[in-house]
Amino acid sequence: MGVTRTPLIAGNWKMNLDHLQAVALVQKLHWSLKDAAHEADSVDVTVFPPFTDLRSVQTLLDADKIPFGLGAQDLSTHDSGAYTGEISGEFLAKLNCGSVIIGHSERREYHAEDDAVVAAKVAQALKHALVPVICVGETSEDLEKFGASAVPVAQLEKALESASATSEIVVAYEPVWAIGSGQAATPEQAQEVCQKLRDVIREKLGEDAAERTRVLYGGSVKSGNIAAFMREPDIDGALVGGGSLKVDEFSAIIRYQKHVGV
Ligand code: 13P
Repeated sequence: MGVTRTPLIAGNWKMNLDHLQAVALVQKLHWSLKDAAHEADSVDVTVFPPFTDLRSVQTLLDADKIPFGLGAQDLSTHDSGAYTGEISGEFLAKLNCGSVIIGHSERREYHAEDDAVVAAKVAQALKHALVPVICVGETSEDLEKFGASAVPVAQLEKALESASATSEIVVAYEPVWAIGSGQAATPEQAQEVCQKLRDVIREKLGEDAAERTRVLYGGSVKSGNIAAFMREPDIDGALVGGGSLKVDEFSAIIRYQKHVGV
C-alpha cells in the first residue's frame, strides 16, 4: 500500500466576491465547520479568491488561525517588469499563498493560454515555491472526437515539462463540458481519466510523485455528488466553482466524509 493522500477540497471563486464578501465568507465557513465539529486534519481546504481579495483573506486566516490554505487563480510567466496588469509568483509567495491555479479552461479559452504558456507558468510557480494546481480537461468536441482522456493526458504531459520528481504539484481534471453546466461527469468517467493522469505523473516524475500527488475532479461538484467522487481510488479531492461561493453548500462539500453511506 502506498502513501495516503490527504483529501483536498479547493474553492475556485473565479471573478466573484469582493474583499469584504470574501472575508465574510471565510469567517462564516470557519464557524460552520467548527459548529459541525469538523476535524480540520481530515481534509485540506484551500480557497482561491480574486487577486484583490488575497491580502484581506490572508490577514484574516493569520489573525484567527483559520486552517485554510490560500491560493491565487493565475500568475505571470515573468518575475517583474513592464507587464501591465500581471501578477508575479514572487508577490503571491509574499502574501503566504501556498498554491496557484494554472491552465484553467477559462484562461485557455478567454485568454488564449496554450500549453507552452501553461508550462511556463508551472515553472514560475515552482520557482517561487507555490504549488501549481494544473487544470486539464477536454471540451465536448474533444470528447466526441478523441474520447475523454486524450486531451487531458496531452495537456498534462506538456505542463509537467519543468517539474521534477520532487516537485509538489496538484492536478485537477476538469472536463470543460462539466464546468458550470450542472452536468458533472460520472464518478466512473472521472476515475478513468484521473487514473490516466496519475499514469502520466508516474511516467514523467516517477512512482513516488505519482503516489503522493493529489488528483482532483472539478465540474459541477455539489454536496449531493461529492461523496461518490471521493470513493474513487484516484480522485483525491475536488476543485469547486459555484458550490464554493455559498457557505452552507461549501461547508457540506468539505464535510463529505460525514455523508450517509461513505
Ligand atoms: P463549477 O463547480 O461551477 O462547475 O466550476 C468548476 C471549476 O471550473 C472549478 O475550477
